[in-house]
Amino acid sequence: MIDEKLMRLAAEAMPRAYAPYSNFQVGAAILDDKGATHTGVNVENAAYPQGSCAEAGAIAAMVLDGGRKIEAIAVAGRGDVLCTPCGGCRQRIREFASPNIRILVGDENGIRQVFTLEDLLPASFGPDNLG
Ligand code: THU
Repeated sequence: MIDEKLMRLAAEAMPRAYAPYSNFQVGAAILDDKGATHTGVNVENAAYPQGSCAEAGAIAAMVLDGGRKIEAIAVAGRGDVLCTPCGGCRQRIREFASPNIRILVGDENGIRQVFTLEDLLPASFGPDNLG
């Protein structure tokens, strides 16, 4: 799948987010190693810390579908500042991805910047550390 299409899936998910507190909707789309895609949105909660990120939703959907390896992930969020994955989500992605995978960041207008996981989470701790 081409990166632009993965970005479009994330952008299409974005307006379905439940974000009444921040009014900041995020969509995420994962391409796994079997070629399947999995999407997620942020889901907030009146008890604020219980909210979850779009990336976490997409990872949960991938795991439910039997996927265990992220080839690329797109994150869509509006605003002038790039909607890069939060620190916790960088680690969540790391669990299922090697450092060289692509992280596409953009919005409904397409990809704005492409990172690798290594760019966003250098010298990371991952499953290999546990042997
Ligand atoms: N959010 C995500 O879903 N993913 C990110 O990587 C950044 C932040 C959500 C969490 C919260 O619902 C809203 O954006 C504002 O922080």
